[in-house]
Amino acid sequence: MSSPAKKAQSPVPEAKSPTVQSPKGKTKSPTPGPASPTPGPASPTPGPASPVAAHDGAPTDLLSGAHWGELEIPDDGDSTLDSDVESSRASISSSIMEYRTINGRRYHSDSVTDGEYWGPNDEKAMEVMDIVHHAITLIFKDRLYTAPLSKDIKNALDVGTGTGLWAIDFADKFPTCNVVGTDISAIQPSWVPPNLQFDIDDASKTWTYPDNHFDYVHIRWLSGTIKDWTSLYKEAYRCTKPGGWIEHLDCGPHFVCLDGTMPKDSAIAQWGHIWTEVERKTGVILNMLDGYMENGIKEAGFTNVQIEDFLAPTAPWPTDEKQKEIGLFQYIGLTSDIEGFMTYFLGQVMGWTENEMTKYASILRREYKEAKIHANLKWRIVRAQKPVDA
Ligand SMILES: C[S@@+](CC[C@H](N)C(=O)[O-])C[C@H]1O[C@@H](n2cnc3c(N)ncnc32)[C@H](O)[C@@H]1O
Repeated sequence: MSSPAKKAQSPVPEAKSPTVQSPKGKTKSPTPGPASPTPGPASPTPGPASPVAAHDGAPTDLLSGAHWGELEIPDDGDSTLDSDVESSRASISSSIMEYRTINGRRYHSDSVTDGEYWGPNDEKAMEVMDIVHHAITLIFKDRLYTAPLSKDIKNALDVGTGTGLWAIDFADKFPTCNVVGTDISAIQPSWVPPNLQFDIDDASKTWTYPDNHFDYVHIRWLSGTIKDWTSLYKEAYRCTKPGGWIEHLDCGPHFVCLDGTMPKDSAIAQWGHIWTEVERKTGVILNMLDGYMENGIKEAGFTNVQIEDFLAPTAPWPTDEKQKEIGLFQYIGLTSDIEGFMTYFLGQVMGWTENEMTKYASILRREYKEAKIHANLKWRIVRAQKPVDA
């Protein structure tokens, strides 16, 4: 995190915009332009899927964009879930989404990072972050952290804070702690607790924070943002006080199905293969549960490493009421902006056409909505401590 481009501290009731300062030699634009050429000839029959040949190291089960482009878009079907979604969305709007601002669809500025990040930073994307925050809150039963923090911690950092909801809640919970949230996009609200500050900063660069400063470093849902996690954790280690804690919560792209309802060629099952291929092509880590977190944290020098895994339904298919509610909010988070998840990497890196992306997104949305596939998103928490005598 070299030289924060922007610091904003409440209460300044105006919208923020990122400082623009292009890194040298950088040519790519984060704005998804026209889709790249169609990747190879499409199969004439949209019937049973046949995986892309495992040439060039591509995963054997990966279906091509052309496969999805050939398929008919199903209609939206039963609307019972829609009304549930609308009422849930309305209840979020009235509480946690009150500080949203309205802009056109957009991505982060090239001046802030030369790294690649898949997500837009516009209102639609921000809404998804807020919904996911709510879903995570439900999954973790309102716990904002699991590390054994004392009440009088003085400094905490939230890396890649997004819309900052976690940081706001944490700052409220620890009113005597100085909380900093960093991000490459200035999408945080202005009216925040007085002990919270947002820095616009690239977490993959050297951090500007002093050695031994933070009691707690929090990282959540940064899958697809960082290439070298170990370097980032080393910065975290340097900036953490002896005895302080780091906690990283993230998910993997491969959905887990425990009852055999997820066909290999379903759009839901393909999601993991698609992102694995993006990871292979870009070097940006998406398979966060492949050991990157626990291994990188250990390698950085943290000890007392603890790991917990959680499965959370991707739609309201469970019979248990609590799990159903989690499924509903994950469903909203996963389907509200599928194009926002896909457009940059699939269009720019994988060469999918717009038609292919639209059809894949439509089929994926349909599968989530029908909820015949009992898929789960897998979340992992890794928490660890800087040795007291470090
Ligand atoms: C999927 S969102 C998650 C936001 C938040 N951590 C949460 O759990 O709601 C990922 C966030 O990481 C930010 N991001 C991406 N690359 C980054 C980087 N190199 N440094 C800091 N933030 C980054 C994005 O701008 C986005 O706000």
